[in-house]
Amino acid sequence: MNLQVIRGTATGIIQQAGAEVMLHFGRPHTEQTKSSVFDIVTEGDRAAERMISAALHEAFPDHHIVGEESGGMGAPAQTAEYFWYIDPIDGTANFANNIPFFSISMALADRDLNPLVAVVMNPVSREVFSAAAGHGATRNGEPIQVSTTDHLSKAIVCSGFPYDPDTHARTNIEPFVAFLPLVRGVRRFGSAALELSFVGCGRLDGFWETRLNPWDCLAGILLVREAGGKVTDYSGSETGLTGAEIVASNGLLHEAMLRVINGSS
Ligand code: IPD
Ligand code: CA
Ligand code: CA
Repeated sequence: MNLQVIRGTATGIIQQAGAEVMLHFGRPHTEQTKSSVFDIVTEGDRAAERMISAALHEAFPDHHIVGEESGGMGAPAQTAEYFWYIDPIDGTANFANNIPFFSISMALADRDLNPLVAVVMNPVSREVFSAAAGHGATRNGEPIQVSTTDHLSKAIVCSGFPYDPDTHARTNIEPFVAFLPLVRGVRRFGSAALELSFVGCGRLDGFWETRLNPWDCLAGILLVREAGGKVTDYSGSETGLTGAEIVASNGLLHEAMLRVINGSS
């Protein structure tokens, strides 16, 4: 299994999907609600997922494909050794309002959700972030690294909020408020995959969120790690990450971020 070859194939597929998404951007959208009134899907999400899953199935017929909008495709999950997690548009709320901050995210993982290949694209800027386990991370083919910021007072950190209205407050308002007086800036841009890519290339110093799904965060987790950063859950464990709790940083700020998130700072 040559991860670098797979990374190249996935990069070609994401660029085609980016062009498809841009055909829909900036126009009126057809939207439907999903798990809550805030959780929507548009014609752009569906078109991009169709294109990505067809291309992945053709290139990797033995792999199982988990798409956010259509569930499982490709080889049966019971027998497949490798799994793709696809978010055809991460940041659909922005996309639906024609706000130019969203991404496409594709991650290849093993059965235990360990990410092996990651590709994230911002179709508006045409930036492509990619990584393969053990082979580093790049932005448009150039190596990237996390920031060297060593104190929260110099850091810009970022987070997001789940679409489930009942758990908004319990899951993230307290940490969000706790960071505000401690850091240079707290941001909420609206695409976890792109925000994690920004940690990878040093534009952001840290990111945290709860209740993400594997398609939102697996690619970003690998990008941050391969760019020299650290990703854990809220207890500090680097293994078994599902998206339920994610803290990503340049490594230097990790313990300080965990203390703020867990309420001891
Ligand atoms: C959402 C985005 C957002 C995050 C939400 C996700 P979607 O994904 O990543 O930044 O805060 O938790 O659900 O629904 O736009 O693909
Ligand atoms: Ca998403
Ligand atoms: Ca999505």
